[in-house]
Amino acid sequence: MKTIFADDAAIDHAANLLRQGRLVAFPTETVYGLGADASNPDAVRRIFLAKGRPADHPLIVHISSVDSLNDWALTVPDAAQLLAARFWPGPLALILNKKPEVPLAVTGGQNTIGLRMPDHPVALRLLRAFGGGIAAPSANRFCRISPTQASHVEEELGEAVDLILDGGACQVGVESTIVDLSGNQPKLLRPGHITRLDIEAVLQTELVIISPRSEHANPLEIRAPGMIAVHYAPVTPALLCPTDRLPEIMQELALRNKKIGLLAYLSKQVENRLTRIIRMPEQADEYAQTLYKSLRQLDSLHLDIILVEQPPETEAWRAINDRLCKATSVY
Ligand code: TXA
Ligand code: MG
Repeated sequence: MKTIFADDAAIDHAANLLRQGRLVAFPTETVYGLGADASNPDAVRRIFLAKGRPADHPLIVHISSVDSLNDWALTVPDAAQLLAARFWPGPLALILNKKPEVPLAVTGGQNTIGLRMPDHPVALRLLRAFGGGIAAPSANRFCRISPTQASHVEEELGEAVDLILDGGACQVGVESTIVDLSGNQPKLLRPGHITRLDIEAVLQTELVIISPRSEHANPLEIRAPGMIAVHYAPVTPALLCPTDRLPEIMQELALRNKKIGLLAYLSKQVENRLTRIIRMPEQADEYAQTLYKSLRQLDSLHLDIILVEQPPETEAWRAINDRLCKATSVY
């Protein structure tokens, strides 16, 4: 068995595997991570192989305290101190300039490094037992849906991972918010549970919002895989649809005998011979918690298409809409 319940003995075993340069998947509050010793370039290269991820896409290094920022970052600006003091441990990753000794394998060849202190008892106990930084991207194959429970990791990576620590379902359900503090202006690289407004309130300044469609994003410089247009995607083609167009779209697909999965928000569509429906929670936090599991469920049913009913587009839903846009084509 690759997957073991994350008790103290399992965590000690996992820390030993990390010391040997092996790969350990572990739960965080956002999604499961695929961990390796961040100071060991060979171990880090195994992450890229296991995920099928291009080597120039940087990883986030997980640390067990705010003080550990100094082990990895060349300097820790006031903004980083403020944000870490307020939100760590928590679903926020900070991009800072790296120390020269940090292996370039971790940062995808860049001089900046992503750092985060996760808010999950298993992740924190593992970090403390291991004693160093753990590089960990989401534990899925490149461009696929992130895992939010141990069984998803097993489905995604199977033999490629040495051990999976089972710590139950992830509470947040979407990846951390990423704020880049390496330049003159703070930038939001990836929206998450901690919102733009939460961060602006602490920094007392506006964030530059970087998205693939933003004027600030130079397509040649987009290094964050989270910013690639097709990402977090199910294998089944998926389409994001406004509520008022759903009946008509579903009728048209039914006429063509297509098997449809619907990730429903408010619509009153009902299941029939061709349609499977998952009804999503009305609150953003709960929606995020079950989003990836629900997409995975529909993806496993061998359907012709997954329709995703557009949820609200307010600030609280920014992270969800970001992931939905990347997982679907827009109708
Ligand atoms: O919630 C999370 O952050 C999860 C859990 C496991 O902690 N991790 C995660 O890792 O989502 P990953 O590798 O799937 O996504 C990390 C994102 C990528 O888009 C990566 O390019 C970006 O962080 N990133 C990391 N270091 C960076 C850097 N130096 N500059 C710009 N982007 C960076
Ligand atoms: Mg990922």
